[in-house]
Amino acid sequence: MKVVHISAECYPVAKVGGLADVVGALPKYLNEKGTQASVIMPFYNVPYTRDAQVEVVYEAGVYLDTYHYEFRILKDNNRAIGFDLYFVDIPELLFEEYVYSQDDTKRFVAFQIAALQYIQTQKNKPAVVHCHDHHTGLVPFMMQHCTMFENLKHIPTVLTIHNAQYQGWFGHDQQSLLPTFNKAHVGLLDWDGSINSLAAAIKCAWRVNTVSPSYMEELMERANGLESLLSHERNKCTGILNGIDSSVWNTATDSFLVKNYTVTSNVSGKKANKKWLCEQYDLDIDKPLFVFIGRLVYEKGSDLFPEAFEKILKDGKVSLLLLGSGDKETEASLKELKTQHPENYNLHIGYDESLSRKMYAGADFLLMPSRVEPCGLNQLYSLRYGTIPIVSNVGGLKDTVIDVDNNGYGFVIQEISVTAIVEVVQRAAVVYEDSAWLQKNRKYIMKLDYSWEHAASQYITLYNSLKN
Ligand code: ADP
Ligand code: GLC
Repeated sequence: MKVVHISAECYPVAKVGGLADVVGALPKYLNEKGTQASVIMPFYNVPYTRDAQVEVVYEAGVYLDTYHYEFRILKDNNRAIGFDLYFVDIPELLFEEYVYSQDDTKRFVAFQIAALQYIQTQKNKPAVVHCHDHHTGLVPFMMQHCTMFENLKHIPTVLTIHNAQYQGWFGHDQQSLLPTFNKAHVGLLDWDGSINSLAAAIKCAWRVNTVSPSYMEELMERANGLESLLSHERNKCTGILNGIDSSVWNTATDSFLVKNYTVTSNVSGKKANKKWLCEQYDLDIDKPLFVFIGRLVYEKGSDLFPEAFEKILKDGKVSLLLLGSGDKETEASLKELKTQHPENYNLHIGYDESLSRKMYAGADFLLMPSRVEPCGLNQLYSLRYGTIPIVSNVGGLKDTVIDVDNNGYGFVIQEISVTAIVEVVQRAAVVYEDSAWLQKNRKYIMKLDYSWEHAASQYITLYNSLKN
C-alpha cells in the first residue's frame, strides 16, 4: 500500500518540534511493515538541504490567484533515512532559513497545491494521502472539491492533529489563493467567519486522529474553538499514541552523548553526561539535576517557571538547567534569575539538538508541567534515557507516565501551578536520596516500550479500514 505523508516538518531535514520527529520516524516504521510510505515537504534553506543530493523529478508552475510561481519536485537520494523523501521547491516562497514565520498563508497554500499537482501526475497513485496539522489541512478539501484535482477525489485522506491550538486561519478575501472550486462548498473551508485550514481538514478528511487517546478526549471539551466540530465528527476520530524512533533515540549509539550507555551501564554513562553538563553550566554534580527542554510557551507551563524556579532554588538543594526559547518576557525573567542563583541554575536560550541529547542523558529529572500536551515526546525520550519525568496530568503525558505513589515510575501533578511545581520538585528531591530505588527505577524506565512498532501497526489498521 502506497501512503504519502505531506508535512511542513520532517527530521532530520527541518525540525521545530515533535511534528518533525513523528514525520521522520513513522514512515520508516510503516515501510518496515511492508507499506510504501514517503514524505513530501518544503525545500527550505537549511543545512540538510544545502548538502542534499537531489534529482529533479517534476517541474511545473503553481497559480496563487494571479501570481505564478515555478516549482520543482526534488527527490532526495539519501537512502539512509528509511523512506522516499520529496521536496517541493518554490524558491520565492519556501526557500527560507526558517520553517514558520508570522504569515505563512501563501507559502503553505502553494506548497499544498504543488504537492497535489505532483501526486496527480503519478501513474501509481497513493492509496492514502496523510496530512499533518493545519499547514497541510487544505489538502483533503482540495482533493475533493477543486476542479483541477478531480482525479484525486477517490483517494482516502487522513489528518493527524499534532496540535489543535494553531489552525491556519486566513480571511475569505484570500479565497482566490485556492484553485477553482464549486463555491457551494465554501462552508467546508469556513469556521467562525474565516477560512480555517484545520477545521477544513477535520470536515473533509476521511479519518482524523490525534497523537494520544487522552488528547482526543480533551479536544471534545477544549480545542481552541473547534470543540463542537470535533464532537460532531467524533465517529471518524481516534487517538493513536506516538512512538519514539529507537534508531535515533538510543543511549547505546547516540553520537551526541559524551558517553554511551545501556541499561546495565547506566550509572557510569549517566554520570559522565551529568559531569559534562555540570562542568559546562557550573552546576554541582552532587545535587539532583532537574531539566526542562522545549518551547517557552503558555501550553508548556513555562510562564510559571520564573516564580517556581525562584522558590525551588531558594533552599539550594537542587540544580536546574533549562534549554529552550519562545516567549520573550519569560526568556528575560529566566535570564535574570541566573544573576541571583548562579550556583544552582543555568540556561541556554535557543535550539540545540546536541545539548538536548546530553540533557536527556545527564539529568536526573525532566520537568514537563504542560497545560496542553497532545502527546509529548520529551517524556518518552527521558524514560528511554533513564531520566525520571515529572509531568502534568494531560494528553499524552497522562497516557504515558504513572506516579510513583500509584506504583509508577514518574511524578504526576494534578494541577498546573507554581505551588504544584515547587512541591513536586521537593517530592522528587526526597526520592532521589534513595539511591537503591533510583537505580531500580532507572533500569525499569529505560526498558519501557514506547517504540513506533505498535503505533505503526495502528496506522496500518486505520489505512486498511479506508480501502475502497
Ligand atoms: P512540541 O512538539 O510541542 O514542541 P514534543 O514533546 O512533541 O513537543 O517534541 C519536542 C521535540 O523538540 C523534542 O524532540 C525535543 O527534544 C525537541 N526540542 C524542543 N525544544 C528544543 C530545543 N530548544 N533544543 C533542542 N531540542 C528541542
Ligand atoms: C505537537 C505536540 C506534541 C506532540 C508532537 C508530535 O507539537 O505539541 O505534544 O508530541 O506534536 O506529535
